[in-house]
Amino acid sequence: MPYLNNVFSDIIYELFGDVKCDILVERKKIMDHQVAGYFATPVVAIKLTDKENERLKDLFYNKIRNKNYKEIGRNRCDTLTHYYNIFNNFGEVKDIFRKLEKMANFAYQDVMNHVSNLQITDHWFNYAKRNSSQHFHAHANSVLSGTVFIDVDEDYLIFRTPFDVDRTPQHMNSLIDEPSYEENKLGYTFHAPEVSAGVSNGTVLFWPSYLRHGYENTKKEGRLTLSFNCLPKNINHDYSIGTYI
Ligand SMILES: [Fe+2]
Repeated sequence: MPYLNNVFSDIIYELFGDVKCDILVERKKIMDHQVAGYFATPVVAIKLTDKENERLKDLFYNKIRNKNYKEIGRNRCDTLTHYYNIFNNFGEVKDIFRKLEKMANFAYQDVMNHVSNLQITDHWFNYAKRNSSQHFHAHANSVLSGTVFIDVDEDYLIFRTPFDVDRTPQHMNSLIDEPSYEENKLGYTFHAPEVSAGVSNGTVLFWPSYLRHGYENTKKEGRLTLSFNCLPKNINHDYSIGTYI
């Protein structure tokens, strides 16, 4: 079971400062210490307005679902259907496309400190019937990925650690002494192989594209999301998206 983590109210372990909250006072009885979460992986959450979210939902049900939309594909579990190339085909939601691109650039530049300008390159609806699942995967040919959780009720997306055993880079210590995956008695989550990010209708999550993610056994009949990938318009003045078009 992945650790639940609400990205809006994460616990921050204060390295400095006079922290008085009970849980830390309790810890001090065990041993006085401070911990910094260096090299954390950022997952950013921003909200669309209810109206924008409803417009995406209306577009899907009025013009795409069961309307002979041509650009369609099925996932390995065949209760999950993908509908590709949404923003190219429906100009009426172009403002939402621009807003998502703006959010992506905020996450990439202001949060993650990159200087390149991002462009959304791929975009697709995901419609999952009840009990759908998506195996852990990462998005290729992309630096930042995102998903709008349009009609999910209270739901989640599970992220896998990029530092796990089967992906350990060669320059790292190859001696593997696996931790216990039980809850840490001090409340730390550094050992967790998976974290479940809580989402609700209108949440847009952004994450580095190398981060593997997935979900299991959806509860809702008709879980609707829209996913997208982003590439920099230019990288180090040498490469541009235009090179590949
Ligand atoms: Fe994905």
